[in-house]
Amino acid sequence: MSSERPPFIDSRPPRASPPSIALAITGASGAIYAVRTLAALLARGVHVEVVISDYGKRLLHDELGEDATVERLIPYLTARYGDGIGAGTITVHGNRDLGATIASGSHGCSGMAIVPCSMKTLAGVAHGLSRSLIERAADVMLKERRPLVIVPRETPMSLPQLKNMVLCAEAGAVILPAMPAFYQQPKTLDDLADFLAGKILSSLGFDHDLYPPWTGRVGP
Ligand SMILES: Cc1cc2nc3c(=O)[nH]c(=O)nc-3n(C[C@H](O)[C@H](O)[C@H](O)COP(=O)(O)O)c2cc1C
Repeated sequence: MSSERPPFIDSRPPRASPPSIALAITGASGAIYAVRTLAALLARGVHVEVVISDYGKRLLHDELGEDATVERLIPYLTARYGDGIGAGTITVHGNRDLGATIASGSHGCSGMAIVPCSMKTLAGVAHGLSRSLIERAADVMLKERRPLVIVPRETPMSLPQLKNMVLCAEAGAVILPAMPAFYQQPKTLDDLADFLAGKILSSLGFDHDLYPPWTGRVGP
């Protein structure tokens, strides 16, 4: 049994068979990437199954402010990204709840992103430890051969950390480092977050307009 509070359930009615994606947020720097990715998936009508580790919650608070809490996720995203997020729905699971839907391959979750991914969670996924719902859901994605996008953030990196990325890549995960580009001439932090969220959506198979496609030269 989990000692956490019951999962937060989005009270809006579910749409007919929307695509379902798991989004895990762990305690690495880069919370802005997580909320941008979540908002972009919602705006595309996705049902997002969110899991946030204890340190992921801390990073949301420390990097985005006191309104960025699990309880106030929808108002926070609406205030930041607009009403368009209302196209999708959210379920938030507790990270200790290993009986949640996404812990089973029989649940129709079609992909997962861990944004950002700490070196600790990376290690757990690399070695199939399934100690938390995040690690278990990632393991399910790998065993079911479904898309798993891991967004690690650390610098510099140790040899064990690099090897853990190789292990995950060999098992089928996409390693998508929190490493935005500058050729699209970003002006704001949101521009950088848009770029990374767009890369994540592409890896999960979604179309988007979060950054302009490369045209062969810098500028409009
Ligand atoms: C402010 C702050 C920033 C952190 N940044 C990172 C980071 O960028 N990468 C990382 O691997 N760990 C980072 N950590 C350490 C992780 O949060 C820590 O290893 C934690 O146990 C990860 O647990 P989780 O994967 O369950 O979230 C940070 C911790 C704090 C408090």
